[in-house]
Amino acid sequence: MHTVVNHPLLQHRLSILRATKTDPKLFRELVHEMTRFLAFEALRDIPTVPVAVRTPMGDAEGVKVSGHIVVSPILRAGMGMLEPMLEILPYATAGVIGTKRNEETAEPIPYYVNLPKPFPDSFVILVDPMLATGGSACDAIATLKKNGFNRIVFLNIIACPEGIARLEKEHPDVPVFTAAVDDHLNDRHYIVPGLGDAGDRLFGTL
Ligand code: PRP
Ligand code: URA
Repeated sequence: MHTVVNHPLLQHRLSILRATKTDPKLFRELVHEMTRFLAFEALRDIPTVPVAVRTPMGDAEGVKVSGHIVVSPILRAGMGMLEPMLEILPYATAGVIGTKRNEETAEPIPYYVNLPKPFPDSFVILVDPMLATGGSACDAIATLKKNGFNRIVFLNIIACPEGIARLEKEHPDVPVFTAAVDDHLNDRHYIVPGLGDAGDRLFGTL
């Protein structure tokens, strides 16, 4: 299942993010802000427990987000989405997955995994701005599952039909929240129109 978050405040930022003239500083700020918008939509059903709150005027019924939440960025570009997630979920832990695409074949090459211990109520928010062939996200999800994490949601900024189809086939239990499903992949496995290489644009390594 995938959801395209169509909120105008998100779509406005996406248009600036895509532009070639957007420099790395602005690019990082936009990724940061957009991640929060995606999270608000994706985490509507996050588990909560009731709490009682004493206000200066009396008692109120409140809620507290419950469970063991893990934010899992796919390196490198997913790092741009980690901090905004930890800001809105300060009690979350981080689990890092490093994967780099082979430039010729686009096959994901895993190079680093550092995950917390899983608990029965663990809930993973996997973050990566780009879903192209789907290789990196599918590989990261397989790694998470192998390590005992079975409740996973994927937050993404730009997807394409090829990546969505692969993810929905290999991991139909993982919902995807994205700001856009673009037209297609080119012969170098880049999303068109997309935004180019997200890692390079985020870290100024073009
Ligand atoms: C990019 C991006 C995704 C992946 C998407 O990372 O951040 O992880 O490509 O492509 P896919 O769906 O075809 O796997 P990349 O491998 O370029 O590494 P980087 O973030 O370190 O630049
Ligand atoms: N990775 C990116 O950063 N951009 C794409 O268009 C495809 C994969």
